[in-house]
Amino acid sequence: MVDMKKIAGDKAAGYVKDGMVVGLGTGSTAYHMVNAVGEMVKNGLQIQAIPTSKATEAQARALGIPLLTIDELDHVDLAIDGVDEIDPQFNAIKGGGGALYREKVVASMAKEVIWIMDESKLVEQIGAFHLPVEIAQYGAKQAIARMAAYGWQPELRVRDGRTFVTDNGNYIADLHLGAGFAIEDVFSKLNGMLGVLEHGLFLGMCKRMIVGCASGEVKIIENPSK
Ligand code: A5P
Repeated sequence: MVDMKKIAGDKAAGYVKDGMVVGLGTGSTAYHMVNAVGEMVKNGLQIQAIPTSKATEAQARALGIPLLTIDELDHVDLAIDGVDEIDPQFNAIKGGGGALYREKVVASMAKEVIWIMDESKLVEQIGAFHLPVEIAQYGAKQAIARMAAYGWQPELRVRDGRTFVTDNGNYIADLHLGAGFAIEDVFSKLNGMLGVLEHGLFLGMCKRMIVGCASGEVKIIENPSK
């Protein structure tokens, strides 16, 4: 059986070139890309990288990929990351793994952003997947009530019987919006909401999608507006 995530991740690693500062994404698809980049570093590729989570940092460190801290970072040439859902207009939902804040910080600095995925992630309309929102622990109940008041059906994320805590020490509220929700409206309301650190709507950031397909084909879809 074709490993769609691996073929997408391997293909994306081919865009990493000598001298680049590279943003390394998080999740099961980015995992393959980080492994492939690690292999290239072993074979002499000279890069510096910024990981988007503690998990990716540990993986990259074990592979010997030279890392920068966020405070050392002054630019990012290329960021490569996974997505949970993306539509043909390149509107994406990210944060299924809870790393959305660091992912957005790194992607927003990048000259070029590549999203990698298996073909199930490419959808006509985003929203069937829950939209993750990172919220402060203090006042979490009130922030969730604010989101519920808009009818977004927020659910505090729980993993293994415990409230999930992000790498930044915050909680995640997952919103159940449904496919076809008013993207711009939710985006602007969340941007100004008390208690919200960041949300998983990544709009207009991606230059290229790399999609691994069950047939074994890897589709590359360029964003004409980038
Ligand atoms: C991590 O918080 C996410 O944004 C991931 O990039 C996204 O959930 C995709 O993950 P997978 O590649 O594991 O599906």
